[in-house]
Amino acid sequence: MAGDWKRSSYCGEVSQKDIGNKITLNGWVQRRRDHGGLIFIDLRDREGLVQLVFNPAEGGSVHEKAHELRSEHVIAVKGVVRHRPEGTENPALKTGLVEVAATELKLLNDSAPLPFMIEDETDVAETTRLKYRYLDLRRPSLQKKLILRHKVAMTTRNYLSERGFIELETPVLTKSTPEGARDFLVPSRLNPGSFFALPQSPQLFKQILMISGFDRYFQIVKCFRDEDLRADRQPEFTQIDAEMSFVDREDVIEVMEGLIVTIFKEALGLDLKTPFPRLTYAEATGRFGLDNPDVRWGLELNDLTAKLKGSGFKVFADAASRGGVIKALCVPGGAEFSRKDLDDLTEIAVPFGAKGLAWVKLTAEGWQSPIAKFLTDVEKKAIEESLKASVGDLMLFAADQAQIANTVLGRLRINIAGRLGMIPKEGFNFIWVTEFPMLEYDEAEKRYVAVHHPFTAPMDEDLDKLDTDPLKVRAKAYDLVLNGTEIGGGSIRIHRSETQAKIFEKLGIVKEEAEKRFGFLLEALKFGTPPHGGIAFGLDRIMAIMTGSESIRDVIAFPKTQKGTDLMSDAPSTVDQKQLDELFIRVAKKVEKA
Ligand code: AMO
Ligand code: AMP
Repeated sequence: MAGDWKRSSYCGEVSQKDIGNKITLNGWVQRRRDHGGLIFIDLRDREGLVQLVFNPAEGGSVHEKAHELRSEHVIAVKGVVRHRPEGTENPALKTGLVEVAATELKLLNDSAPLPFMIEDETDVAETTRLKYRYLDLRRPSLQKKLILRHKVAMTTRNYLSERGFIELETPVLTKSTPEGARDFLVPSRLNPGSFFALPQSPQLFKQILMISGFDRYFQIVKCFRDEDLRADRQPEFTQIDAEMSFVDREDVIEVMEGLIVTIFKEALGLDLKTPFPRLTYAEATGRFGLDNPDVRWGLELNDLTAKLKGSGFKVFADAASRGGVIKALCVPGGAEFSRKDLDDLTEIAVPFGAKGLAWVKLTAEGWQSPIAKFLTDVEKKAIEESLKASVGDLMLFAADQAQIANTVLGRLRINIAGRLGMIPKEGFNFIWVTEFPMLEYDEAEKRYVAVHHPFTAPMDEDLDKLDTDPLKVRAKAYDLVLNGTEIGGGSIRIHRSETQAKIFEKLGIVKEEAEKRFGFLLEALKFGTPPHGGIAFGLDRIMAIMTGSESIRDVIAFPKTQKGTDLMSDAPSTVDQKQLDELFIRVAKKVEKA
């Protein structure tokens, strides 16, 4: 582009300081309005809009050219900045006190008719927006979010490198590391029949960097997980990943809490209150039902097991005698809920394992409930007292194994808070959740699996339970939860080869299998491994919550759809037979399930 047409200012940055100056702008035509001979153009660039005015009296040919302009034409324009005439200022616009009286105009490119207008308020289907993502990304709201994302990434780099962390890259073509999801595989042409896995996280590599003596590592890194997608999950997403040597849990939490505080200060100008409150896993699941609790409202769970284990109501007594719990939730004013509301709640509970959802409406006439007849007056009184229930309230009960009863009521707690308008729309509430169980039992696979990942160290005080009561062993693991979303997780790692081998054994990974999959780690651990630990934050999730976005797709430039596809480039797609032949791959016909 000819030098004398290069911008002297961004459109969105023209201000009263420029009044009287001749400036050059480059940008896109947002809108053209013709008013009694005058032509007004809103010109847009990354920084915002400014109004151009073309007056026929001040240059006929420029005015004629302006008349031809259409939405999203790209132009360079020269003109003089002046006050807007009194009464025509637009305080809603950053540049709303000024306008540019255009003197010269150059059309740099035109635009095909648009599939949708470039506006923040849009009801265009997301599929259309994703197909034309380059147009979608011209919308100021998306630009703001992605520019903020850049700011957060830069703040992260500065903060961590000032504290001695070194940014190191780890491979994308790697061996599978089990983070609980399915791997994306990449066939190796040079090694027919062998596959790389895209990393679910750089977990093993960052631990090995500690063994190598780098002491403090970080990376803003793409991770890949082939899982079913939800609003807060993408198949490729970005972690702020970190690892530190010679540390314990408190060291990691301190540095990383500081990072979050600095990010929110730099990006939003907010002063977060520290230290962030902490809950143990037992408290989080016991009181809020979930290990990612949103603690901004009450509706806490109550444990009635001790009071009701001897009840004549079989559902309660049976659950307790099988080692389960009887938990309940009291909803103030919930006696207003209709039959349909209660059916809806049951429907929500069932997929989380509920076998039923006993309820009680406390009315002026007493208990209205399908289970009233099974309970004694003493039991009823005890329940009301424990739940501090009063007339007009609704009580909900789940009797089951603790994990199921808690999850069911934890989910209902969120749903009910939504119905009652109790979920705050603004604000940032951080909670560390600590002391996760190390293992859980996978009924389907009939074996123990790691709750975090198999490299997480058990808590010293629980080591003796590893053989006798493995489900009671707590791990040196911690998650950071923001407004009820898990935004990060990490742990202190096992740094001894024998302990690691023993944990693999507990996980039912036989020696040969462990050797095949993680032999390199087990071997590396033998060569003077320092105690170490770390964490990874989900950058996309942080950005989504920070910007109040409903989906993490809004903070990713080129996200995938729920079906894991890219509508703009049409990926994934079939490939030529020649490519498949080179990779020794034959595609099986998909068998439709009957
Ligand atoms: P974890 O599996 O908990 O830990 O992942 C860390 C954080 O990454 C985010 N996250 C995701 N974000 C978007 N889409 C996804 N599919 C997705 N999956 C995870 C979450 C999560 O808290 N290697 C360990 C970290 C460690 O131990 O240091 C790990 O990956 O916000
Ligand atoms: P039933 O005697 O099985 O018909 O159950 C009586 C009431 O208890 C119904 O309202 C069921 O929804 C409820 N219920 C059944 N099983 C459970 C359970 N495990 N936890 C809580 N409520 C249950």
